[in-house]
Amino acid sequence: MNLWEAIENRRSVRSYTAQKVDKASVEKLLHAAVQAPSASNTQPWTFAVIQDAKLLKEYSDRSKSLLLSTIDLENSPHKKYRAMLSNPDFNIFYTAGTLIVIYAKPMGIHSYGDCCLAAQNLMLAARGLGLGTCWIGFAGTLLDTPEVKKELGVPGEYGLVAPIIVGYPQGRIAQLTHDAPEILSWKE
Ligand SMILES: Cc1cc2nc3c(=O)[nH]c(=O)nc-3n(C[C@H](O)[C@H](O)[C@H](O)COP(=O)(O)O)c2cc1C
Repeated sequence: MNLWEAIENRRSVRSYTAQKVDKASVEKLLHAAVQAPSASNTQPWTFAVIQDAKLLKEYSDRSKSLLLSTIDLENSPHKKYRAMLSNPDFNIFYTAGTLIVIYAKPMGIHSYGDCCLAAQNLMLAARGLGLGTCWIGFAGTLLDTPEVKKELGVPGEYGLVAPIIVGYPQGRIAQLTHDAPEILSWKE
């Protein structure tokens, strides 16, 4: 698959087969991630990989409880998610077998943005390998807590950036259309 196809066809995947993503494939994705540009070449990205189904289910359940207890969903644009997060059968990771979490080392004001670039590299590379991905913002609050960072061996001062699930897509991938670029000015 060429780069243009990967960019055009990458879409968030929310249904996965049970096929495990092997270690070599995860390593390829991490390799792609670290090719991203970063401010002054600081390369502030670090990674935690979770392929333990029991732990992923536990983090899904803990994320839902945490979000429901800490976010004022009634008065937020996320109100529509209350029912979803209250459903005991809803798995925020869509039962994907692999979660790659990108954490930023505190290396200046650009660290977060640098890690987002790494995340996009990873998602496009996954598309090229026939894998699906989805950034799971729902997991961010839990994965940034001192307790979970300790569990994952992440230093407390590192900041959560991108929880990305990875797996082999099951069925048709929903093809959301994206709007045309909103060009505010183009001075020639
Ligand atoms: C910061 C961020 C947080 C997101 N959080 C979630 C999430 O918690 N659950 C989910 O299903 N999708 C999540 N998504 C995926 C978006 O819903 C998706 O990217 C958007 O609807 C556009 O669809 P596309 O990725 O298929 O182009 C997130 C995406 C981003 C960039």
